[in-house]
Amino acid sequence: MKITIVGTGYVGLVTGACFSEVGHDVLCVDNNEQKIQMLRNNRMPIYEPGLEDVVARNVAAGRLHFSTSLIEGTDFAEVIFIAVGTPPGTTGEADLSYVEQVVREVAEHMDSYRLLVEKSTVPVNTAEQIKRTVLRYSRKDVAFDVASNPEFLREGTAIEDALKPDRVVVGVESERAAQLLKAIYEPIITRGGGVFVEMSIASAELTKHASNSFLAMKISYINAVSRICELAGADVEQVAHGMGLDRRIGRQFLKAGVGYGGSCFPKDVDAFVHLADHLGYDFDLLKDVRLINEAQRDHVMQKIRQELWVIQDKTIAILGLAFKPCTDDVREAASLYFVPRLREAGARLKLWDPVATDNFKKLFPELSYFTSIEECVREADLALILTEWSQVAELGAGRFRELMRCPVVVDGRNIFDPNEMRANGFAYHSVGRA
Ligand code: UDX
Repeated sequence: MKITIVGTGYVGLVTGACFSEVGHDVLCVDNNEQKIQMLRNNRMPIYEPGLEDVVARNVAAGRLHFSTSLIEGTDFAEVIFIAVGTPPGTTGEADLSYVEQVVREVAEHMDSYRLLVEKSTVPVNTAEQIKRTVLRYSRKDVAFDVASNPEFLREGTAIEDALKPDRVVVGVESERAAQLLKAIYEPIITRGGGVFVEMSIASAELTKHASNSFLAMKISYINAVSRICELAGADVEQVAHGMGLDRRIGRQFLKAGVGYGGSCFPKDVDAFVHLADHLGYDFDLLKDVRLINEAQRDHVMQKIRQELWVIQDKTIAILGLAFKPCTDDVREAASLYFVPRLREAGARLKLWDPVATDNFKKLFPELSYFTSIEECVREADLALILTEWSQVAELGAGRFRELMRCPVVVDGRNIFDPNEMRANGFAYHSVGRA
């Protein structure tokens, strides 16, 4: 089938590339000329393992195209996925101006039936607004449908998540829309497994916020338990293991650490709290999820203060700038909390990340960045681990010991074993382990 995707960010580009990978004919539209030019030269505007190959293969096969023209996108296919950004506004409410602009332009131009699909994460009942906008700006004799199709892609594994989803959720109001989306996802469900779930549009819109907020809650829950473990002399990794063996709980997203970041969890939790408030429900539980996440960073900062006594003039190696491994994304990353505070306290910072350095450097150009983890750690008074890149574990406790001026490690991701570190003479602090 022919498909138009509007927006070539993490969601739009991965979704479009994967649709073409399973045989659809896809046109990806973005108003950012530079991005489209990069894509036409098979250079990726985002870092996502495996994406470049999928794009190159399908461009070569003539199934994947790029354009800056939304008019071309409107003419290209009956089904138009809207995957533009819905960034948080000042009050935490999702900014839907980019969505509205796309809907308006499509409505003004479409000359026959179109199915407009919400792929971006949007507050519940956005589809109602989209319908009103199409009715207002389109020719009166042109039929259309709106549907919701939330994405559940994780950065770093987005290709896998797109081609082998646990579930495809679609919110539809007509059989025609349901059949179109079923036909689009049929090759993915057939090859990748997973379940195709139809529901009301509002339910589909809410499923996204409810899922992401639940995952964020799970992380804050285990981080709260980690605080109790420290006080009780227990080991949160062992507790999480014991919990996770219960199929109802599951082991995933029970990893205690320095808190969640990224472009989704913080934004989606804020948006969910906001939309619940807007509907008349005070979502206290999610407000606590947020508070626990912020407190986790404060708690790790306290460990650094206690260990160093004076931060002024100490050399601190920051290992990991991305919000998680296998991505170059630093949005809401723990590094954005620690770097300004440690610099403010007078520390001499040495920063390392194998992938996210360029993005972080745009925010803090004047700091010292290292491509070698060994050079970053060399002569440091303290090493602060914020992202569980495999290279950190591979360096090994012994090498840390040789390189550092003082054997002090604050491990925000519980990469190392406390007993091994202490056996190597380290002052070692981690999360949830006495
Ligand atoms: C998330 C959701 O997982 C995905 O379904 C949704 O579509 C987009 O948002 P993403 O933000 O890319 O995906 O990454 P994810 O792997 O979920 O990690 C988010 C944050 O939680 C990271 O900072 C990670 O370090 C943290 N995390 C994750 C934990 O601290 N502990 C865990 O057990 C899992």
